[in-house]
Amino acid sequence: MLSLGIETSCDETAVALVRDGRLVGQKLATQIDVHAVFGGVVPEIASREHLRVLPVLYRELMQDTGIDPSEIDVVSVARGPGLLGALLVGVSFAKALSVSLGTRLVGVNHLWAHLLAPGLEQELRFPALGLLVSGGHTHTYRIDSSTQFELLGRTLDDAAGEAFDKVAKLLNFPYPGGRFIDELGRGVAPDTGLFPRAFIDTPSLDFSFSGLKTAVANYIQAHPELVLDEMGNIESVARMPRERRDLIATVCASFNWSVADTLRIKVERALKQTGKVKSIIVAGGVAANSMVRTVMQELAESRNIDLVLPGLQLCTDNGSMIAYAGGLLAGQGYCHGLDLEAIPRGRVVPLDWRECRG
Ligand code: KG4
Ligand code: ZN
Repeated sequence: MLSLGIETSCDETAVALVRDGRLVGQKLATQIDVHAVFGGVVPEIASREHLRVLPVLYRELMQDTGIDPSEIDVVSVARGPGLLGALLVGVSFAKALSVSLGTRLVGVNHLWAHLLAPGLEQELRFPALGLLVSGGHTHTYRIDSSTQFELLGRTLDDAAGEAFDKVAKLLNFPYPGGRFIDELGRGVAPDTGLFPRAFIDTPSLDFSFSGLKTAVANYIQAHPELVLDEMGNIESVARMPRERRDLIATVCASFNWSVADTLRIKVERALKQTGKVKSIIVAGGVAANSMVRTVMQELAESRNIDLVLPGLQLCTDNGSMIAYAGGLLAGQGYCHGLDLEAIPRGRVVPLDWRECRG
């Protein structure tokens, strides 16, 4: 089963080929530089960039892998949730390709694809507890198979990645700044009393990160020396006087810790609700965060449950996870028709695949 994956849900244009669950080749073009000056993704620009870049990436992928398009068994495309205009570019391209090649079309839930992605690297064991922490979502799921996901908790306001990016922006890092906060706080002892772990005093499995974001914003306002003089110049931090540099590092480490420990508390609660699971899967861009990885590792070890963490390149958006997840659906005999809809953020992705043979 050779699956072509197409990803255009946000600001990465990506394609990949996965054969029988193993990666054959991939191409990715990030739009980060295009959007960085605006401090966030501009949906209209994202759509136009996907339109410009996607056919080029597809051609390069086929050329570099030496695979003839007629060998593709299924065209898998991220159909949501995401930016609607951006998704429409990928879905239209996928529909056209599936018609011209006479192959199956499968619409992939982008969030499920994040959580299934580590299956490219290791065998996934179900039932699993899934934690998806990305720029747009913070969800926990009970996962019983590659097509059975039960949503347990979700964020009521900002996603974890969004909180990272907003705090990074306040410190004068370019969008998306999560990785800078990770890097600057790495190896530094957090001040665990500095920022709150928001929304943990309720039994709810839901998340809320807006209170934490406000607490950091107030702290930065009271300590203007935290703000970088020049946007994103991480090297300039190293040249700062020690006291200022240490303050920035402590704020970053403490913020990393507040997010990671909140995630730990909610995952522990979710585990109580799900009963016994064989693994905990942590996925999405924020799964690249070193503090989140450490805290989750400790949690899994203390519970004697396998922890599944994707490699860093599989954490953020990519085409491989779409090709892989689409290949799993197609392998079970499912596909979508040409009426496949793109699903914007905030709407539930329907389970509307149908049985397809041949
Ligand atoms: O999953 P993803 O690539 O895109 C979405 O589907 O949203 O996640 C992107 C998010 C951004 O908010 C980015 O700042 C965050 O993941 N991120 C990180 C790190 N690397 C990426 N946040 C914290 N630490 C990191 N190392
Ligand atoms: Zn994503």
